[in-house]
Amino acid sequence: MALKTRSIRGTRDVIPEESHKWRHVERVTGEVAAAYGFLELRVPTIEKTELFVKSVGDSTDVVQKEMYTFEKGRESITLRPEGTAGIVRAALENGLLNGALPLKVRTQLSCFRHENPQAGRLREFHQFDIEAFGSAGPAIDAEVILVANDIFARLGIRNVSLEINSIGCPECRPKYNEKLVAYFKARESVLCETCKQRLLRNPLRLLDCKEERCSAIAKDAPKITEQLCEACDTHFTGLQARLRAVGLDFTVNPYIVRGLDYYTRTVFEFVSGEIGAQATVCGGGRYDGLFEQMGGPLTPALGFAIGLERLIMVMEAQGCAFPAETPCDIYIGSMGERENIKALELATALRRRGVRALCETGGRSVKAQMKYADKLGARFSCIIGESELASGSVKVKNMQTGESSESALEAEDVLAVIK
Ligand code: HAM
Repeated sequence: MALKTRSIRGTRDVIPEESHKWRHVERVTGEVAAAYGFLELRVPTIEKTELFVKSVGDSTDVVQKEMYTFEKGRESITLRPEGTAGIVRAALENGLLNGALPLKVRTQLSCFRHENPQAGRLREFHQFDIEAFGSAGPAIDAEVILVANDIFARLGIRNVSLEINSIGCPECRPKYNEKLVAYFKARESVLCETCKQRLLRNPLRLLDCKEERCSAIAKDAPKITEQLCEACDTHFTGLQARLRAVGLDFTVNPYIVRGLDYYTRTVFEFVSGEIGAQATVCGGGRYDGLFEQMGGPLTPALGFAIGLERLIMVMEAQGCAFPAETPCDIYIGSMGERENIKALELATALRRRGVRALCETGGRSVKAQMKYADKLGARFSCIIGESELASGSVKVKNMQTGESSESALEAEDVLAVIK
């Protein structure tokens, strides 16, 4: 077919036969977070560009290369590349921090990044995101990580590994950065061009360069976990004690630095070995300085986002169950004008009782109608003809067993049969 306009590279349609998977993960993620007290917040898809420049950071790949930004009037506007910045803005703008703290919010959102599309990496993708504001200690870090873990468990996912790190605070990180820069500077000639820039602008990112020559150097670099100040070290130890107490396996990976600038102390990722190179299903961490940076009060905060496309990919790779949904409980066939009107009447009454009832709208033969009912996977069917109309009763057929039961041509009676 010579389609005149095709979809944009890196975007995806969710067709009806897949949408139940999305409804399932959207429901379960929301339910699990709600059980931990996370309330739903919804924020706009577009924000002022400066919001992301200030929070995500102007030296990050996201801001430098990946944002969809456009001018409208005198404003520079950006399609959100992630959720945290907008959620923090919304919390400040709506005075949410004046209520009870910690404030816990959850949301589900589409994000846009102009990356090179590949399996698990899209230009429009979706995240389930939670954020907790106002708790400084490691107890909330453990709780947030547990939410992600519970989501995986509820969805039947096995074998996603949790990796944690602490990237310090404004007290200890500058000292660590100095050591890191000195280490890499001594090996600068071998580094890729991007890492040479990172030396000047964003030394932590030197640790997660994917170029082999750079990662070979990075593996012997000084580790941040050995350079933490006492407060950061105590926090990180407290988190590990809690994860052990609840039996959650994890590894400390001193090379997790995350791609966004706002993080402090705890950072973590859940990684799957089953979906290829884009293996991080969930990423998050603490960002204790962001509220102040955005003009608000000093407010400790942390959260995570799960990439929903990757989550579904893991579930598919592991053969996890997605609850089946029947698109049609009963198909009401008819022959003739009066019968077709009666079918509409019965379908309407059933729909008002929550039944997925379909009736003929195309004026097809009874044979064609029944073929359609079969294709739809209707659980039950019936045909209203002249004699059914006259007698006020109809045979309701169970499409799986082939058995039929007689029912009055009334919604309540039909309902009793198909329940
Ligand atoms: P992030 O690591 O940039 O963090 O993204 C979180 C997750 O979104 C990733 O682990 C991945 O599953 C998914 N993801 C990211 N980029 C793509 C893409 N191009 N295609 C498909 N999936 C993708 C954040 O966005 C932070 N805001 C998370 C956070 C919340 N930190 C604190 N609170």
